Amino acid sequence: MERTFLMLKPDAVQRGLIGEIIGRFEKKGFILVGLKMMQVDRDLAEEHYKEHKGKSFFEPTVQYIMSSPVVAMVWQGKNVVSLAREMMGATNPANANPGSIRGAYAMDISRNVIHGSDSVESAEREIAIYFKLEEIVNYTKAGSEWLSE
Ligand code: CDP
Ligand code: MG
Repeated sequence: MERTFLMLKPDAVQRGLIGEIIGRFEKKGFILVGLKMMQVDRDLAEEHYKEHKGKSFFEPTVQYIMSSPVVAMVWQGKNVVSLAREMMGATNPANANPGSIRGAYAMDISRNVIHGSDSVESAEREIAIYFKLEEIVNYTKAGSEWLSE
């Protein structure tokens, strides 16, 4: 089953949005298989955003995700990588659909509340840098027979 890495960024934690955002993914029917609060250090922040190294927003973005604790998560489900990105909305909340997470809860590209892997390959890489294998659980969720055949 497909998995993605989602992270509630420091602003989501500080603004009390953890429950709201996790609830959206739960209600959609995705399965939470990894969850931890953590403080991101510089090495991890730079590894996370290494594709953006050299861009003007690299250092501010590294600083942003190190600025306060985050919630790191692994979610599982059919097409979860692309559907989670749809649910998050555009990178710049100013352009995000108001029904999306960034559209509903954020104002500024540099405080856009959530990270989500942009491909299955990125998801594998990001899950591996944030989680040990034994921190990810396997289970069948009650009611899953009502979500798909
Ligand atoms: O997070 P997403 O994959 O939607 O966007 P990205 O292009 O991979 O950029 C990573 C993160 O860098 C964004 O989520 C923003 O937090 C930040 N960023 C920024 O502050 N200013 C930009 N012009 C572009 C990205
Ligand atoms: Mg990205």
